[in-house]
Amino acid sequence: MTNDILLLGQTLSFAADPFTDGPGAARHDANGAVLIRDGRIIATGTADDLRAANPQAHVTDHGDKLIMAGFVDAHVHYPQTAIIASWGKRLIDWLNSYTFPEEMRFGDPEYAAEIAGRYLDLALDNGTTSMVSYCTIHPESVDAFFTAAKNRGMRVVAGKTCMDRDTAPDGLRDTAQLAYDDSKRLLEKWHGVDRLSYAITPRFSPTSTPAQLQALGDLWGEHPDCLMQTHLSEQVDEIAWVKSLYPNARDYLDTYEAFGLLRPGGLYGHAIHLEYREKSRLQEVDAALIHCPTSNTFIGSGLFDMGGLMAAGHRVGLATDTGGGSSFSMLRTMAAAYEIGQLRHNPLHPAQLLWLATTGSARAMRMEDRIGNLSPGLEADLVVLDLASTPAIAQRAERANDIWEAVFPTIMMGDDRAIAATYVAGRARG
Ligand code: GUN
Ligand code: ZN
Repeated sequence: MTNDILLLGQTLSFAADPFTDGPGAARHDANGAVLIRDGRIIATGTADDLRAANPQAHVTDHGDKLIMAGFVDAHVHYPQTAIIASWGKRLIDWLNSYTFPEEMRFGDPEYAAEIAGRYLDLALDNGTTSMVSYCTIHPESVDAFFTAAKNRGMRVVAGKTCMDRDTAPDGLRDTAQLAYDDSKRLLEKWHGVDRLSYAITPRFSPTSTPAQLQALGDLWGEHPDCLMQTHLSEQVDEIAWVKSLYPNARDYLDTYEAFGLLRPGGLYGHAIHLEYREKSRLQEVDAALIHCPTSNTFIGSGLFDMGGLMAAGHRVGLATDTGGGSSFSMLRTMAAAYEIGQLRHNPLHPAQLLWLATTGSARAMRMEDRIGNLSPGLEADLVVLDLASTPAIAQRAERANDIWEAVFPTIMMGDDRAIAATYVAGRARG
């Protein structure tokens, strides 16, 4: 008996980075196949070759649908699932009006479990198989998220969001010591269990005291194999606020750098309004910048400089930023990244968009040797895209002359109806 699974369909993978090597970095096979064993990709190739070489395998034929790596969302707030698409505010008012009141509810383990499960199911419905999530200040919110992800067999990264400054409301504050102790305990409990990893998570410098940033910088120094996630230079008002709270800092990034919170393995969300020194340091350290395009337009933050940052060699991931972002879908997120690129006179190629949503985000997480590509040895987290999921998309795709024209209408107009199947560690969902 064999447990080998052979998936047939169109296949798309990346042999190189399309930002440096162009669209030719992608490998497309119109009659492709993926061989999966024990949750891993064993081989990719043509359907004819892999069928002949693996007569023992159980075959699932996806026809002309497109098999690729599952989407990787490098920055989400799962606790904001139920307040996504809240109207009419910019960052600081949006946090105070919608986000903080909702996050207060996550001390209740039952509510945390309900939303964690709901969020992960919505993510999988949208073809997202891995993500890096903020939790809330409550350890219960971290336990709920990791438990729900573990039950689904998913590779996820998450951490307790730390806030100890009086800029955060009563009921949503810890202390420097509690942030250190709770984060350390949760890290020791979850980091490396199954497919779970811990990210040390100061929310952003306006809601932390210098003492808390230092405590978390110390913790990261003691556990340098963990990731660290935070926010950086999202809105102009926020940057002015940071300046007033940290008068001695050279710039926003310095409020992290001064306390040991700038290293490889750092994920800095948004990173829109960066100064020259900040860009140089981020590039030098090879830290990751996470582009959250639907959030940046929804909250009115600004236009990320993908072209300039990629040309300068930055490590960049792509993310929904649910629920500041207005969608759970990485398709919609790629569409928004394309639109922001257009506003900056830098139209991203479909190969670049798909790379960002998979390998790019996996690189930001330093997990590209495990997820984010259709490549032998990697974990079999896959999405199967229907490139004709609605009449509007189908009639456009029908005119396509190549794979890029065939997939771009789905990037621009697709939603969860385009997700024909999702595989997590080789297992089809649902
Ligand atoms: N900055 C600090 N916290 C948040 C958050 O929850 N969402 C967004 N978009 N920006 C933030
Ligand atoms: Zn965020």
